[in-house]
Amino acid sequence: MATKLLELEDVHTYYGDSHVIQGLSIYVNKGEAVSILGRNGVGKTTTLRTIAGLTPLRRGTVRIGGKDTGHWPTHRIVKETHVAYVPAERNVFPGLSVKENLKIGEQPPMNGSSGSRWTLDMVYEYFPILKERHLQDGSTLSGGEQQMLVIGRALMGNPEIMLLDEPSQGLAPIVVAKVAEIVKQLCALHGLTLVVVEQNFRVSYKLAQRHYLMDLKGQIKRSLTNEEWAANEDIVKKHLSIDDGCVEKKDSECRQVPAPSEAPSGAAPGGPGAVSK
Ligand SMILES: Nc1ncnc2c1ncn2[C@@H]1O[C@H](COP(=O)(O)OP(=O)(O)OP(=O)(O)O)[C@@H](O)[C@H]1O
Ligand SMILES: [Mg+2]
Repeated sequence: MATKLLELEDVHTYYGDSHVIQGLSIYVNKGEAVSILGRNGVGKTTTLRTIAGLTPLRRGTVRIGGKDTGHWPTHRIVKETHVAYVPAERNVFPGLSVKENLKIGEQPPMNGSSGSRWTLDMVYEYFPILKERHLQDGSTLSGGEQQMLVIGRALMGNPEIMLLDEPSQGLAPIVVAKVAEIVKQLCALHGLTLVVVEQNFRVSYKLAQRHYLMDLKGQIKRSLTNEEWAANEDIVKKHLSIDDGCVEKKDSECRQVPAPSEAPSGAAPGGPGAVSK
């Protein structure tokens, strides 16, 4: 039977008096990749921040690996549950080389972990450009390279769960496809559990097997498996494109992951629109 690695129950989060997450309940099984899809401002980033202990939980429960982490400080969550949060703004440390940025993420694997034991060389194998640039100031890398760097830095902490916020943000379509392909491989080959937040629904479909459709205030409208999504693509499109009738516009905006015919080798055709899976 599947083990729940991450579980949120009736979570409530505030910014000051603003009650931004109101009763969120979701779960992620060990080894599963799950996406959270929703329009701007519904609370996706706040959800990840709450899991990582960066935005305080006011009410409800967050459990990671069976531990009640809801009120733990971030450093304890990282150390004892090996959650790696990769924020949309990336937060590469300026003034530090690529290699130093990676080394800063180093943490020994969790006791009893069945996951991979990450080294610099392994990260460089996935992201050869980081090896080429290892002496360069991390903050001078391109957007795509910085995204690779922060994913690599997260891997150096031997994560059990990776929380990935908008990995495609600001990246060219070809780079988005490359990053998505690598993250997909990481999950498949290293048993990484993933929670990804994306506005680019094709990336979400590619990376995750299950998807939560989030509405304002962190309300979950429904969850869908990839099979359900493939059979009901309109549900996802309507969910993301609100009622301003811009389904077509949204679709074209989201065409950042190439169609199967254009996709990197190994990607099989199938699924919504032109998503490679
Ligand atoms: N530091 C903050 N102080 C006050 N309100 C905030 C803060 N951060 C976010 N909010 C508000 O909380 C709500 C949820 O924000 P959040 O960033 O989680 O949304 P999101 O779904 O990630 O949106 P986006 O798709 O634009 O990234 C929004 O109404 C936002 O304005
Ligand atoms: Mg966000």
